[in-house]
Amino acid sequence: MPIPDSIDPDRIPRHVAIIMDGNGRWAKQQGKPRLYGHGVGVVSVQEIVECATEWGVEVLTLYAFSTENWKRPVDEVGGLMGLLKNYLLKELAKMVKNSIRLTCIGDIAKLPGDVRQVLEDTMRETAANSRLTLNLALSYGGRAELIQAIRKIAEDVSKGVLDVSAIDERLIDSHLYTAELPDPDLLIRTGGEARLSNFLLWQASYAEIYFTDTMWPDFREQAFASAIDEFQGRERRFGKTSAQVEGG
Ligand code: FPP
Repeated sequence: MPIPDSIDPDRIPRHVAIIMDGNGRWAKQQGKPRLYGHGVGVVSVQEIVECATEWGVEVLTLYAFSTENWKRPVDEVGGLMGLLKNYLLKELAKMVKNSIRLTCIGDIAKLPGDVRQVLEDTMRETAANSRLTLNLALSYGGRAELIQAIRKIAEDVSKGVLDVSAIDERLIDSHLYTAELPDPDLLIRTGGEARLSNFLLWQASYAEIYFTDTMWPDFREQAFASAIDEFQGRERRFGKTSAQVEGG
């Protein structure tokens, strides 16, 4: 998947985060069960990972399973866990070959033991890779992430090892699941809804947000290129005026 001509290779977003929505509705439109939509969604995952790797994205975070998704019917949850496990087992060789490092964010203690085992093995075996970081959000919720961070910080304050005045953005960053990663530059949501759904609430403060009606199973190379095109056409001011940004 060579980089499309429409994209400036020098201004690729470093970190792209994606809310992969619409699998269920896409399946329904085809008269198929929801899990079929998730299965085709895995093919989109494979294609977008390949594009991100070749186009020079450094970090790709995919919202694969939220804290709220545990409330779905047991067979759908089981089906998603099975797809995840198979994906990891199947893609390991490709991750090693293409220097993809797998990381995850979320409360992975809640995952079934076998899935967690495969996840931990994959992370260990790809830990030294440096081209793309594929970061899976699993049993992830932005509020839960902030709660665990605030608890740790409060503990340190109460033990007397941290002064309240030392609490700043950097300290909070360092207590999040994403401590090692840059903030997302571009956040994409497929499936026609325009909300964050508890995803990267702190980290997405300055992300460009791109909503598309395309359902996740249809989100492939062209659609990803359009999102990056739009990102490159927007001016990121970080609170400054246009004149300040243009003046550097
Ligand atoms: C949202 O669609 C999608 C999910 C909750 C799961 C996303 C999972 C995958 C694409 C497959 C497994 C992931 C990996 C990384 C191998 P939805 O079911 O909410 O769709 P709907 O809004 O149309 O019902």
